[in-house]
Amino acid sequence: MQDHRTDRKPAHVTETELQVQRQAMAEVRALEDRPRTFCIVTYGCQMNAHDSETLAGMFREMGMSEAPDRESADFVLFNTCCVRDNAERKALGNVTWLKEVRKRNPALRIGVCGCMIQEPGMAERILKQYSFVDLAFGTANLYRMPELFLRMLQTGSRVVEVADENTIAEDLPVQRLRRDAAYITIMYGCNNFCSYCIVPYVRGRERSREMDDILREAEGLMRDGVKEIMLLGQNVNSYGLGLEGGASFPALLRRLDAMGVERLRFMTSHPKDLSDDLIDAMAGSKHILPQFHLPVQSGSDEVLRAMNRRYTRAEYLGRVRALRGAIPDIGLTTDIIVGHPGETEAQFLDTLSLVEEVGYDSAFTFIYSPRVGTRAAAMPGQIAPEVATERIQRLIAVQERRQRERLRRFIGMEESVLAEGLSRRSDAAVSGKGGHGISITFPGSAEDVGEIVRVRVTGVKNNTLTGERV
Ligand code: 5AD
Ligand code: SF4
Repeated sequence: MQDHRTDRKPAHVTETELQVQRQAMAEVRALEDRPRTFCIVTYGCQMNAHDSETLAGMFREMGMSEAPDRESADFVLFNTCCVRDNAERKALGNVTWLKEVRKRNPALRIGVCGCMIQEPGMAERILKQYSFVDLAFGTANLYRMPELFLRMLQTGSRVVEVADENTIAEDLPVQRLRRDAAYITIMYGCNNFCSYCIVPYVRGRERSREMDDILREAEGLMRDGVKEIMLLGQNVNSYGLGLEGGASFPALLRRLDAMGVERLRFMTSHPKDLSDDLIDAMAGSKHILPQFHLPVQSGSDEVLRAMNRRYTRAEYLGRVRALRGAIPDIGLTTDIIVGHPGETEAQFLDTLSLVEEVGYDSAFTFIYSPRVGTRAAAMPGQIAPEVATERIQRLIAVQERRQRERLRRFIGMEESVLAEGLSRRSDAAVSGKGGHGISITFPGSAEDVGEIVRVRVTGVKNNTLTGERV
């Protein structure tokens, strides 16, 4: 293969380093006495899910196959999230529980990776408190897993390695979770430093992949028959920062649209960076799905300022109007935090009124969770848990009612649904997402899974849509 990386900027992992990993994968494969099966337990966002696909791809290259469950695997790897305290506690609880499984199966080895490992002091904590963990590495050195894994096997001792370089590794093997749909990461990290958020600390500064690398990956996926591509980044709108030659998110979308990827989606967007050009690119496209995830976090200008979000309620609503003006019926979803330090009852009511006003098709609602090292964790006015719980309950009630009301606009409309799996409630029904990003359940069988089916929406049930085939 031609070495196309010689002129790479320093942000990229060098070909030599990647060669070391390929060599390590071959060496593991050649070992007589090595783990034969793996199981990856993933927490958190799509970024993590996609990282797990890469890790699975590397395990495959090492001659290992996926175990049916974690109890029977030779190697279990926990890919952790630390965005909120409950995600972190769940992961650590499950890692500790596996220690018991090892009493029955002494050959079992345990690994921990992902965002949690990037937290300050976590490596020391793993070494001291979690002595049964054999391997730990973070997100910055994920590409080095084969080398670290080999070292663990060869030395028989624990390997814990944390790095905080902001690099990009191209061409790692990927074992996709789904055949019909795939993720492509277009940018890594975040520069926004919202007061409450730990992501910039654990995922590093923003860095964008070269457009050609992304297009090449998309071409490969299309050749493999992938019908839907989800572009991933903490802040996809600022894609292109630091790249030469006019790379921007709208430009990338236009190229992918012209290539003919059947269905294109992306997440996540920061409202302050949502440009008119992006809306134009969507409105003028054939393949970008009419859906948008636009986290608002709060409806109060004071809270937005305290959160360092750098937009006002009015500006946010202006972006919503622009999206709806250009793409009628666009599916709109959001993230909301209640109980940010200092949030008053009146400010919370501003969030409720915003939810009422916008009418989201779905919303992820969170109680603020203090993260060590973030600005908000040190702010005065931390909100009592019972106040935050009471607020989120009121928020969910308003959101669910608005969602039911809003979803009715789809009744009678036809949607192309990418069937994802059998419905949880019935064997004679399948469900998947329509173009507007909302789940639709309709009559069907296992044969439909992975296919795009035309469906007419007939009703709203349990906050999703039901339909019939046309
Ligand atoms: N507490 C609660 N929610 C948070 N999020 C990020 N950090 C925190 C935190 N410390 C939420 C935001 C973000 C989503 C992915 O997670 O709403 O958009
Ligand atoms: Fe966190 Fe804000 Fe960056 Fe999103 S934009 S990852 S909420 S810091």
